Amino acid sequence: MASDTQSVTHSERNASRPQARVAASTAAARRPAVGARWVVPAKIAVFIAAWYPLARIVLFGVTDRLGANPIEFITRSTGLWTLVFLCITLAVTPLRRLTGVAAFMRFRRMLGLYAFFYATLHFTTYLWFDKWFDVAEIVKDIGKRPFITVGFAAFVLLIALAATSPRAMVRKLGRRWQSLHRAIYVIGTLAILHFWWMKAGKHDLILPKIYGAIMVALLGWRLMVWLRERRKLKPH
Ligand code: HEM
Repeated sequence: MASDTQSVTHSERNASRPQARVAASTAAARRPAVGARWVVPAKIAVFIAAWYPLARIVLFGVTDRLGANPIEFITRSTGLWTLVFLCITLAVTPLRRLTGVAAFMRFRRMLGLYAFFYATLHFTTYLWFDKWFDVAEIVKDIGKRPFITVGFAAFVLLIALAATSPRAMVRKLGRRWQSLHRAIYVIGTLAILHFWWMKAGKHDLILPKIYGAIMVALLGWRLMVWLRERRKLKPH
């Protein structure tokens, strides 16, 4: 725990320097897993809990409770859980900064990968059960329906982040890794647009407004921190 807190203080002191930040994340990637004793059991608990959305779908499937339109149920459920995991992943850094508990950062990669996992299930349901692998139909849909266009763009970006998430890639890409992983902000914005557009057609904007407000808070907090650090760096 002590070493975790020390590492946060150190990296936060360097937070305003991009080179130092990359060096810190590269060093973190090389460092063996050390830290608070609660982290490993908590990570196991989160790892298990994150299967709940899929387990629920399977349970509803085998007990015939997926409703009149099971494909719609599965598409919507996996879509919503992708968004939930995106929000939780984006909440990790503010949580660390606000609480000073560096160990929270050790959950971020796993949470991001669960967002990717549910996005893959979401897209696969669409690809398989909605479009029956009809690539021409899918390409037409991506070009014609804006909510599908932005959802697809978000998914492509998520693939890039998931593919570069292993520690070896953090080391290999160095400074570029950090720039690439800023795409998470674009993904968050596209995900809200996707949800908003889809629900606007149904005149039901309550949930998109709630998730939109959460996303604005999460991204706005980062913008505020960035502006504050920039102001500090400016010569007076
Ligand atoms: C990061 C990527 C994505 C996120 C976060 C996301 C999120 C969502 C959400 C929250 C919903 C609405 C769920 C509800 O009604 O409660 C949804 C619905 C939907 N999404 Fe996505 N989505 C993503 C990518 C995609 C992609 C790549 C496709 C297909 C190319 C897609 C196709 C759909 C479809 C067809 C629906 C359901 C529309 C309906 O039932 O009328 N999504 N998605």
